[in-house]
Amino acid sequence: MTVEPTTTAARLIDRQPGMTAAELVGHLSPPPQFASASLENYVPDERYPSQASAVEAMRVFSSESAVPARGLFSRKPAAAVAKPGVYLDGGFGVGKTHLLAALWHRTRGRKYFGTFIEYTAIVGALGYREAVAHFRGASLIAIDEFELDDPGDTMVMSRLLGELVASGSRIAATSNTPPHALGEGRFAAQDFLREINALADRFDIRRIDGEDYRKRDIEGHAVALTPEELDARLAAETGAVTVDRFDAVLKHLSTVHPSRYIGLIEGLSAIALTDVAPLRNQTDALRLVALVDRLYDAQIRILTTGTPLDQVFTDDMLAGGYRKKYLRATSRMIALTTAS
Ligand SMILES: Nc1ncnc2c1ncn2[C@@H]1O[C@H](COP(=O)(O)OP(=O)(O)OP(=O)(O)O)[C@@H](O)[C@H]1O
Ligand SMILES: [Mg+2]
Repeated sequence: MTVEPTTTAARLIDRQPGMTAAELVGHLSPPPQFASASLENYVPDERYPSQASAVEAMRVFSSESAVPARGLFSRKPAAAVAKPGVYLDGGFGVGKTHLLAALWHRTRGRKYFGTFIEYTAIVGALGYREAVAHFRGASLIAIDEFELDDPGDTMVMSRLLGELVASGSRIAATSNTPPHALGEGRFAAQDFLREINALADRFDIRRIDGEDYRKRDIEGHAVALTPEELDARLAAETGAVTVDRFDAVLKHLSTVHPSRYIGLIEGLSAIALTDVAPLRNQTDALRLVALVDRLYDAQIRILTTGTPLDQVFTDDMLAGGYRKKYLRATSRMIALTTAS
């Protein structure tokens, strides 16, 4: 087989994903790299006992979901009834998504797995009432990367999860932020304390400590190539690749809703970003984070020239309310630029 020359390389900015509500809903299962994640193949780090406790908490939570709801004459006092939700809060790369996917795989019945942003996009696409009708009665709603970036999401999610819990659904979530601190530094969270507390009360909150598992085997820097090295890498690529200037991609991302970034990169095995430079504003930074999340889920490699991707978030950005998001994206970009 001959490989076409890369002079007419495809561009990310020419891709315009249109995803229907049905397609968005159809994506609600764990990303391929977590297809075989289980509680058994999660290896707790002995230096951080919270990891073994989290595995145990997930095991207990999943055995409870198998038990039918107790009847009216149950002898067990209400206070002893477990919470309908479990919430894993921890740093990046400690295996939260792995454990969430493991729980999903163990759960029987109608179940969903998606990122917070996917659920909010589905509510946007279907409308609130139809979204409730779609999800109600599910055995498990798994929500990865729970984030409250704006007051509207806070109101909608607190209401939605309340209705779903009332329909008998159980909820499992992961986040880099404990529920009571959601929204802090991003919007006037104190105005939404009632909603945030109502959300938090539904969850058994588990903190997982530890080091970034991805950094256990890779060295801690994103790789930037010279233009010549990039050409050589592109010539050697056998899968579908796009090549774009970094600033053109940022501009393009502003025209696509983040819930559709998954469609933007579908089918690619790598993307090349040329002339990478430090980000100029928070909006671009958050869009890049959303893109990196989807690239990471799909394990699409990133090839770059210019500033290494672990240096694109400025000190100002790293000092603000989105610090953890940016650090997580950095950890993911290191993994994707060093993957071969
Ligand atoms: N203790 C562990 N044992 C086995 N594999 C692990 C462990 N921790 C993490 N992993 C693996 O490391 C990778 C990163 O873990 P994962 O994505 O679940 O972390 P995370 O806490 O969700 O990170 P992030 O904050 O970036 O979302 C995954 O491939 C996961 O399967
Ligand atoms: Mg994760």
